[in-house]
Amino acid sequence: MSITLRAMTADDLDAAFVLTQLLKWPHRRADWQQALQLGNGIVAEENGVLTGTILCCRWGEDYATIGLVIVADAAQGRSIGKQLMLAALERLAGSNVRLHATEAGKGLYEKLGFVVTGAVEQHQCRELAQVTVLPPAAHQQRRAAQPQDAARLTQLDQQASGQQRARLTDELLTRAERVLLLEQDGVTTGFAALRRFGHGYAIGPIVAQTLPDAKVLVSQLLSGLTGQFVRIDCDAHCGLGDWLNQLGLPQVDAPTTMVKGTPWQPDADGAQVFGLMSQAMG
Ligand SMILES: CC(C)(COP(=O)(O)OP(=O)(O)OC[C@H]1O[C@@H](n2cnc3c(N)ncnc32)[C@H](O)[C@@H]1OP(=O)(O)O)[C@@H](O)C(=O)NCCC(=O)NCCS
Repeated sequence: MSITLRAMTADDLDAAFVLTQLLKWPHRRADWQQALQLGNGIVAEENGVLTGTILCCRWGEDYATIGLVIVADAAQGRSIGKQLMLAALERLAGSNVRLHATEAGKGLYEKLGFVVTGAVEQHQCRELAQVTVLPPAAHQQRRAAQPQDAARLTQLDQQASGQQRARLTDELLTRAERVLLLEQDGVTTGFAALRRFGHGYAIGPIVAQTLPDAKVLVSQLLSGLTGQFVRIDCDAHCGLGDWLNQLGLPQVDAPTTMVKGTPWQPDADGAQVFGLMSQAMG
């Protein structure tokens, strides 16, 4: 039986949602919808039945992400994952491509030239305990981001991740529950977004210049989420992990960060990524 690859459309979202449900991944249909709006999906089809998915997001000329690489259980081991990856890489030609690999995906990505560059810590809890708000330092203040902050938030995100994600910033400013930013002497130096995702809420992206700054932003967002399901995906080396464990957000998974091409190196004294938007979109 032959496999056909084609662009994912809104009509595929129900079947794609079933794939993540079967894997017990937390995505809601709305999360798939957002992913397809921000990126380009490719599906594998066999006799009219959707058997695989992949999401590619090109973030500017140089950087891109791949996520939601899934092949239905019964169709695995027949090169469908590899075909989806090759189609995605063709679409992203010229970009440095990053993804976050499960144990099941790692072997496939290694064969395609991806190398391990780090790890992500997935922290989450079902019912968040009360979190104390950490005060900003002198000359710093927090405030809700406004539409006119879009360009600066995109710039900080680009400094931290290399990715030019203006359309993500717009999506966050339009649809996130809250986007909080930190100012130092009136200049925005970091931000964190609180969004609906999966079983409850997710905090990310988190972009800040220092670990204390990231904690100031995250503690404020967490303080309004007592009793809620909350998830944060952070870089294993960013320093947030131990603090999140102490707050009652234990680490539940550790996907591997892999890159095909050149990984982004942010300036040491500039904005850094503390939390991901999601594993699928970096
Ligand atoms: C990961 C996944 C997409 C692979 O899809 P698949 O269609 O079964 O993979 P393929 O048949 O295309 O395998 C392609 C190649 O990768 C290799 N490969 C696949 N899974 C592997 C594994 N776990 N370890 C080592 N190699 C692996 C295959 O041997 C094959 O090598 P070859 O081309 O030399 O023969 C599939 O297992 C899946 O959906 N898993 C659950 C969801 C998941 O974890 N996705 C990854 C998210 S990051």
